[in-house]
Amino acid sequence: MKYETNPPDAASLMMSARSFGNYDLPGALADLIDNSIKAGAREIALTCRFSDGDPEIRVRDDGHGLSGQELRDAMRPASSNPLAERSPDDLGRFGWGMKSASFSQCARLTVVSRRDGELTGCVWDLADVDAWRMGVLDADEIADLASPELLSKDGVEVIWADCDRLSENGSVTQAEFNALIVHAGNRLALIFHRYLSGEVRGRKLTLRLNNRKIEPVDPFYRDHEATQQLEAEPLEIGGRTIDIQPFILPHYSKLLPNQYDQLGGEEGFLRNQGFYVYRNHRLIISGTWFRLLRHGELSQLVRVRVDIPNALDHIWKITIDKSDAQLPAVLRNRLRQIVQGLSRRSARVFRSRGGRLDRAGTTSVWSRYARGGEIRYAINREHPVIEALLEAGDDEQKLTANAALKVIEQAFPVAAFTQDAAREPDAIHQTLTDPLVFRADLNAALPMLLMQAGGDFAALEALLRVTEPWCEAWGATEAILKEKGWLNA
Ligand SMILES: Nc1ncnc2c1ncn2[C@@H]1O[C@H](COP(=O)(O)OP(=O)(O)OP(=O)(O)O)[C@@H](O)[C@H]1O
Ligand SMILES: [Mg+2]
Repeated sequence: MKYETNPPDAASLMMSARSFGNYDLPGALADLIDNSIKAGAREIALTCRFSDGDPEIRVRDDGHGLSGQELRDAMRPASSNPLAERSPDDLGRFGWGMKSASFSQCARLTVVSRRDGELTGCVWDLADVDAWRMGVLDADEIADLASPELLSKDGVEVIWADCDRLSENGSVTQAEFNALIVHAGNRLALIFHRYLSGEVRGRKLTLRLNNRKIEPVDPFYRDHEATQQLEAEPLEIGGRTIDIQPFILPHYSKLLPNQYDQLGGEEGFLRNQGFYVYRNHRLIISGTWFRLLRHGELSQLVRVRVDIPNALDHIWKITIDKSDAQLPAVLRNRLRQIVQGLSRRSARVFRSRGGRLDRAGTTSVWSRYARGGEIRYAINREHPVIEALLEAGDDEQKLTANAALKVIEQAFPVAAFTQDAAREPDAIHQTLTDPLVFRADLNAALPMLLMQAGGDFAALEALLRVTEPWCEAWGATEAILKEKGWLNA
């Protein structure tokens, strides 16, 4: 046998690299930020300019930078072996990130580096990579292109031009571009929240997006007193430890509307329940149960932090864009147990809020009568909404309303309910879990309640404070009244 060299065609290989992984803009930026963190950066500046429809995106850090030769090596596709053991703080794996992340968004990648004062600049332009031709900038070109900060301080500046992949059709309007940037900022605030808050490495990372500091968003809301941090469950796999830390978030009645919106994120609580998997403290996956559990209403408050070290990449099958991983089989059963216990506890947070019977000082919807060995449940005719129903309309309508209540009480499905309560208490879903519906229902009832309170705001507040269901979620009720200006702040 003889051997011939048979290298790939540069242009074709680089074109296919554009579709490695499943990058969106925040994912691609995150991959560059990983590199900056690895290089010891304390400050990372993202600059995104629309530039009349020819957007340019820059990521500049103040890390240790790269020498001329190191930059040339780093520009090379597959610049390192994915099987090599990485230092525990290394967020990289494949030797592809900088290239594949960049080309997922742009066609022209320029990297300028300053190390020990020495400046180097290299360019891959996908329109012109025949025979692996890479551009190397001269001193004047670097001075023109690089930002003043980089010219005077060691670090790396990555510049994306010809950004033809920010949208499906290749171009974006100013409004679309702005929306992309806002979304990217929100994602990065979450992805790197532990670095931004100073939880990692004992110092804070500063991340700026167009000069605005990105503040960390903690998906577990550990600062809030009503957040429940449950027992941690460390798991040993292959001689390494995976930390599993479940949290139950505060019920919406304990959150202000803006806190609720932030915690719910762009897709809301329901979508964002589940595991939050961190690789070296950097969020890689969120809001999935790995098909161990449905995304249920009653488990919407559960979020489980899973910390995996990069030494376990092989068993998680980490993807190139680090946006996905698969749950190793050894973990599956263990996690299933943990998860089931958790959703039960979340359900309890909801259930404990609704319909406690005959609590002293409150007006409940149901009353329970126990006399002479007999128990009877009845609808409380003095509850303001029921009262309004019974008072509305002419005599005939009043009679009908009263008859309707009686029918409902008598037909209370005792047998079915008892069975469900015995067999599947956690599945019973009678309480309201959606704050938007809560808000809409209260809004609908408010005019009538205000009338019952004699048109007096103070009396209305006093009424709601002791009346179900509003007293059970007083925080949410109060916020709605305040918005209307019906409450003295
Ligand atoms: N901002 C930076 N500062 C210093 N060195 C960097 C920077 N960005 C990249 N590098 C160097 O370039 C190399 C290649 O980066 P690249 O992101 O392509 O691959 P990787 O980080 O090794 O692995 P992965 O594909 O998992 O990201 C890195 O290993 C690092 O040595
Ligand atoms: Mg990398």
